[in-house]
Order: sequence, then C-alpha cells, then structure tokens
Amino acid sequence: MSQFSLSCRIEKSEDIMSESLYIKNACIVNFDSIQENSVIFIENGIISFIGSEADFKAPENVKIIDAEGKYVLPGGIDPHTHFELEFGNTVAVDDFFHGTCAAVAGGTTSIIDFVIPKKGESLLNAYDSWRTRADSKAVCDYALHCAITWWSPQVRDEMAILCKEKGINSFKMFMAYKGLFMLDDSELYETFEHCRDLGAIAQVHAENGDIIAKNTEKLLQSGVRGPEGHQLSRTEDVEAEATNRACVIAHQTNCPLYVVHVMSISAAEEVARARQRWGKNFIFGETLAAALGTTGNEYYDKCWHHAAAHVMSPPLRPNKETPAVLMKMLGDDDLQATGSDNCTFNKNQKELGKDDFSKIPNGVNGVEDRMSVIWEKGVHAGIIDAKKFVAVTSTNAAKIFNIYPQKGSITVGADADLVIWNHKATRTISVKTHHHACDFNIFEGMVCHGVPEIVIVNGNVAFEDGKLNVTAGSGRFVPSNVFNPMIFPK
Ligand code: URP
Ligand code: ZN
Ligand code: ZN
Ligand code: ZN
Repeated sequence: MSQFSLSCRIEKSEDIMSESLYIKNACIVNFDSIQENSVIFIENGIISFIGSEADFKAPENVKIIDAEGKYVLPGGIDPHTHFELEFGNTVAVDDFFHGTCAAVAGGTTSIIDFVIPKKGESLLNAYDSWRTRADSKAVCDYALHCAITWWSPQVRDEMAILCKEKGINSFKMFMAYKGLFMLDDSELYETFEHCRDLGAIAQVHAENGDIIAKNTEKLLQSGVRGPEGHQLSRTEDVEAEATNRACVIAHQTNCPLYVVHVMSISAAEEVARARQRWGKNFIFGETLAAALGTTGNEYYDKCWHHAAAHVMSPPLRPNKETPAVLMKMLGDDDLQATGSDNCTFNKNQKELGKDDFSKIPNGVNGVEDRMSVIWEKGVHAGIIDAKKFVAVTSTNAAKIFNIYPQKGSITVGADADLVIWNHKATRTISVKTHHHACDFNIFEGMVCHGVPEIVIVNGNVAFEDGKLNVTAGSGRFVPSNVFNPMIFPK
C-alpha cells in the first residue's frame, strides 16, 4: 500500500471546493484539432475560457500553470475497470480508492467500472453496493456499466430501472465463464433485444465458454496444470468465433454492440469486418493496454508467479506481432477504444491456482499505465498521432457511452479534467513506484515516453511533482443517458 493513502482525507464531496486555474502556453490536443499558444481558464471545476493570452490575462491570485513545450490533453477515460471485484473466490486488491489514485497518477481522470451482480442477485442491490463503495472512495469521476449474469423477468425489469432512473446505458454479457456468468445464445438474443428497446448498448466478453470448458478438462487430464494452460484452453479462434457470433446476434436483433477487451488480431478482424458490413456506429471494439504492451509469451516464464500474474481473459496472445497490429487497427478506426480491465490480484491470491490454471484469479493492472503505454507503443512508435491518441484514450469512449463533451474534450463548458503531458520526458514503469495496491506490474521495466506531469481533476490539481493530492469520495458518479443519438439515430 502506498504512503499517500495514510494521509488521505475523507470528506463529503460537497465539501470539496475547486480553485481557479489559468493554464498558459497550452498546446491543446483534441481528437480533431491541435490549438497552439492558447490559454485555458478553469472556474468551479469547469473550463470557462479557451483562447489567446491577448484576450484573457491571468486574474490576480489564481494558480498559473505554464504548459510551455508540453501538450494539454483531455484526461484519460478508462471504460473498463473492476475495482474490488469479487472473482475466483477472492477480491481484487485495487479498491475504488487505490484504483482511482492509480488512474489519476497515470493521467486518467474518469473510469467506468462494471456492476457485476452474482447469479440470482438483484441488479439494483448490486448497483447500490457499487455506488456505496465508489461514492465513499473514488478520487475521480466514475460511471458504471452493469453485467447481466443471469436472465429472468426480474432482470428484465431491473435493467429498465437502471436505464430510466440510475444513469446506466450499457450492459455486459459474458459468452465465457461457463456456470458462473455465461449466457447462452438465446439469452444473448433476448438481452440484446431488451438493450435495443431500452436504448442501451450491449457489450460482450467474447470467448466460446463451452469450448473453453472442454479444453480445460482435457488439458488438466493430460497433466497441463500451469499458467500456459490458460492460453492453450482459450486460443485466438475461440475468441474470434465468439466475436463474430456476438456481431451476428447484434445484427439480427438490431442492437448496437461494443466488444470489450479484444485481445487478438483474429477477433479484431471480426470487429472490423462487422463494422464494414453493419455500420461504424453500430459495432465498436475496445482493446486493452495489456494487449498493446505485452504478449502471451509471459505464460511460459519459468517463474510461476510471473506467468500467473499475466493470467487474464481473453488471454494475452503469444504472437509477437499482436500489439503493433492492434495499435494499427486503432489508428485505422477498426477498433475505437482502449481500457485497462484493471482487476488486480496479489501473489497469494494467484496461488489459488497453483496446481490448476483454471483456478488462477483472472486479471491484471493497467489503469495507471494505460496512457503511457499507448503513447510509447502508439505515438512514440509512429503508429498513431497525438489526436488519435486522444480519440482512443478518452473521446471515443465518451462518445460511445454518451458522456461527451462533458468528458473527453477540452472545450468551454466541459469538466476540467486535463493532463499536462510531457511527451519529451520518460518514466520507467515499476511495482516499486506504482500507485496500485497490488504487488506486481505487468509492464515492469518498460521505459515510456509520455509522462503525465500535472493532472487536473474537476478543476483541482490532483497530481503534480509526482505527488497525489486527492480526497477519497471526491469523485462523482456521472450518469450516462440512454438513446445516445450517435448510435440510435432517429
Ligand atoms: O481477466 C479478466 N478480464 N478479468 C476481469 C473479468 C472480465 O472478464 O473482464
Ligand atoms: Zn470480460
Ligand atoms: Zn518472475
Ligand atoms: Zn473486464
């Protein structure tokens, strides 16, 4: 656990005042423009002016930030986290406090977590418990998706309440985790139809759960028990088949679809093909920092803990071309968004699967390092430019989940969530310096160009000089409305 948590103040969000800030010499990067030599004025947590210094001199007694030589970017939006998720008989160690602290230290100023009700549990009860934990601990704004882990008239009714009264506009269905969360095709069909009627977007975890169950049984019987068995039981084609099937069900039910954590080239190609066939505002694909920053060769590391620390689903792919191809596909708009799927477990928790890979809790870190890894592997590597970086790290997610331009944009009236990004500086990722609660970092030793030097959250300087200045509970819930006009045109 990091030092800063000891001095954290717990206050109610209403007590938190934001200061006025004046940013000068700003080179503002939005998804569609770069505006040099600008000033940005922030009052009450909102951007109130963008223009030239000649038109707006710094008022007396406001904090002035000189962004000379750096970029000013919209704060990152991580649309895929699992803070303190109960999974595989244990609980992810990054809670909403540590998880959002890690996010902010890495330049991410909003996250979208998943409410995951247990099979048979009321969606509304699960939603309340997520809200209670997040509201008291989050240090940046957050929104929520909800998973549909079972199907019944009650679930149908509660989905409608979540959409109409609780600020939810997206539901994740699992095609894997047989016996735990998985739905069959007819249930997927019905949930998709219901999402469409509610004006919500369907999401899928696309892997063929039946094939995985069979493969796992066979591998264990043949004596394969280590972490490599995880990837062998769920190969690329197992992901690609489910991705195609989900896209077909979306087309059949006329329900817009967002495929979460696309981990392989074959699955990404299915998303790209479905977008060509059925529409660019109908099918969307998200990949992960993990898939862009590392590979499945780690499952063959001679150190069991090292290999187990990389176990996640779908798994990382052994093909060393995968990270650059996925990055190129983001650049070409074949994929739209990047998340972290941050779901962290310590060594002792991963050891639940010491003798059986199928019992290793699934999940890795990423919420802190996503922005730097994508800058390094994307912009620094010359595959995407700074505007595309903004699109895939914040704007596209904000648009898809209908919180744009409040989030994901540097514009007058938007929330003042900004990063002063030093693209010339480097930092080395390490478990020794990260802000997570976990004891492993899958990007250990990676030298990244692109350092978030100052991170502004709702108008407050929340990270500066390597130090966090945050308050548990200051993050607000951001409701997301249904019938997003971009994906449900009239
Ligand atoms: O391995 C993963 N991805 N853990 C979190 C649960 C999920 O499927 O997203
Ligand atoms: Zn998943
Ligand atoms: Zn090791
Ligand atoms: Zn996930």
